[in-house]
Amino acid sequence: MRTKIESGDNFTAIKEAGTILQTGGLVAFPTETVYGLGADALNADAAAKIYAAKGRPSDNPLIVHIADTDAVYKLADMKKLTSQNPSMQPKAEMLMEAFWPGPLTLIFPKKEIVPDGTTGGLPTVAIRMPSHPIALSLIRESGIYIAAPSANTSGRPSPTTAQHVAEDMDGRIDMILDGGAVGIGIESTIVDMTGELPTILRPGFITKTMLETIIGTVTIDKAIVEPDSNLRPKAPGMKYTHYAPKGMLSIVEAAHVANKGIPTDTDMSADIHIHRVAEEITRLVAEKEAQGYKTAVLTTKEHASLYKCKHIFVVGESENGQTIAANLYATLRECDAQEIEYMYSEAFDQTELGGAIMNRLLKAAGHRVITI
Ligand code: TXA
Ligand code: MG
Repeated sequence: MRTKIESGDNFTAIKEAGTILQTGGLVAFPTETVYGLGADALNADAAAKIYAAKGRPSDNPLIVHIADTDAVYKLADMKKLTSQNPSMQPKAEMLMEAFWPGPLTLIFPKKEIVPDGTTGGLPTVAIRMPSHPIALSLIRESGIYIAAPSANTSGRPSPTTAQHVAEDMDGRIDMILDGGAVGIGIESTIVDMTGELPTILRPGFITKTMLETIIGTVTIDKAIVEPDSNLRPKAPGMKYTHYAPKGMLSIVEAAHVANKGIPTDTDMSADIHIHRVAEEITRLVAEKEAQGYKTAVLTTKEHASLYKCKHIFVVGESENGQTIAANLYATLRECDAQEIEYMYSEAFDQTELGGAIMNRLLKAAGHRVITI
């Protein structure tokens, strides 16, 4: 199959992409989070092609992308949701009002029309309204609901440019709409509305604090907070090794020094920590290089000068998590392009958006953390 790459600014290309989707084909398109690989969500055969193109396990459900809120009521069984928990529909509607279009996916009981092939056999459906104008225009032009996972080969870092999509999908899909680099760079926050409390199944740009400002208490799936606990994540996709570069990535962090309850100057202690981390990473890199391995450091703009190593990748700015989110996957792919065999990364700030960034970095590292 020849994969056409067209500019997403070209309306004729969007119309053509819409026709491809209507007739059961596959089109990759930009969203504000990462590029998606789209197919008709209500056509089980079309959805099956997504799994084949990605090499994705078929128990891993897809997110359905919509362009207007009416679509939610066609796909989600609100009667069932309300019978389970009467407060959930109003809460979902408040979240939709606050964050859609945008990087938030909500999980509802599904209606009959959503095929099992789209939901990986689950009785629930994940729905999101993206804010990227090309995504919205494609959904509207095609007149369908678009099932779309991230447009990477299963297990690889999600694509944040059309070139990344082409690296993984060329020859496997009908078309790629090029919308340039995406804005956010990590996937949407997923919130399950079908339990006792709204539950975050995958952290993302919309943080727990932002959700709680709108609807009060929100919990986080325990399997995310305690990755070693053998708990089964409620989002099936979160159980797989993910976002992983080809080389071996490890995260190096400083152990929290017990201070016997005496408050420390946090800036100063953070400063001492980063110097220790940089020293240790420099040592590890030298060790691997001496053994003949191509080895790289993942760091921030502020810390880059602390390393005396050959391959230094600046992911973003320590003080600005959005820059780190935007470049993380591209950096991991760049490590692959340069055939880096070992990578050592600093741990980034864990608060707010940093929680989502570290969730992805830890998964990319297969949870290899070196604590010093
Ligand atoms: O930002 C995003 O969400 C991107 C863009 C393209 O919209 N999409 C994306 O899709 O990240 P994907 O397939 O790579 O990740 C979807 C995640 C998987 O972890 C999957 O298991 C979970 O959503 N998921 C989908 N439907 C679900 C359901 N009914 N219940 C629980 N988890 C679900
Ligand atoms: Mg994905």
